Amino acid sequence: MRIEGLPGVGAEITDVDLRQVTGDEMDAIKQAYAEHGVLFFRDQDLSEDDHIAFGERFAPININRFFAAHPDYPEIAMVAKEADQKDNIGGGWHTDHSYDVEPAMGSVLVARVLPETGGDTFFASMYRAYDTLDDATKAEIEGLNAVHSAKHIFGSQEQTYYNTTDAGGGRIGNAAAADVLEDVVHPVVITHPLSGKKALYVNPGFTVGIAGMSKEQGAELLERLFAHAMKKEHAYLFSWKPGSVAFWDNRSTWHWALNDYHGQRRIMHRITLEGCALH
Ligand code: OGA
Ligand code: MN
Repeated sequence: MRIEGLPGVGAEITDVDLRQVTGDEMDAIKQAYAEHGVLFFRDQDLSEDDHIAFGERFAPININRFFAAHPDYPEIAMVAKEADQKDNIGGGWHTDHSYDVEPAMGSVLVARVLPETGGDTFFASMYRAYDTLDDATKAEIEGLNAVHSAKHIFGSQEQTYYNTTDAGGGRIGNAAAADVLEDVVHPVVITHPLSGKKALYVNPGFTVGIAGMSKEQGAELLERLFAHAMKKEHAYLFSWKPGSVAFWDNRSTWHWALNDYHGQRRIMHRITLEGCALH
């Protein structure tokens, strides 16, 4: 097995078969995951059962509340866009599950049907985003907490992602669960539970304010942090091919699925793994 760091964020791991990972390989994968934030594998041949078994070697599976499930495997969430659909899932910078008290650790995403062109996914390093902040901004955000919410995305009130896009027509659902989900706070800067490194933990998808600040003040600070974090030098654009698998960490990375393949089908299978409280 070989591990090669990529520019911006992530590492590519080659010469490994995810259906039969040895104990030593598993240790190396865990270490690379903590360090690089997202791992990419090519030319894999995972059945649904293999996909689930690989995920379960890291952590228990979180069954997604909002995404349509695979018809035969409730553990697998469908990240799908049909040829006649307009909106995609994850089509803006975000990190999954930051609206939970104990945000999911990460996901293992397997490509099943790919468009002939487009459909790449951007990833960005929140370790790098934090490390490259200027000292004044680091001091400014020290000790602050941010507010995270799922309501404006998965909820049913006006102008949510759920009811303003065609993804609400069955690909995502259970809006009532989002409506009653309490907003949560997490530190703006976390110490990563696996690596011990500091990471910026706010994201444009689900972070809606800064605890103790007015809406305007919080929005101003978040806009500044987002503009910095999304700089191209912290990011890597992953091009999916048949057999590609990505395994990302929600605490140290963001991702953004490009929606540039209209008229073509893209079907991905996602397993999400349970995480822990963040400090
Ligand atoms: C996700 C997501 C990325 C993609 O599954 O959480 O944002 O490339 N998808 O489909
Ligand atoms: Mn996502």
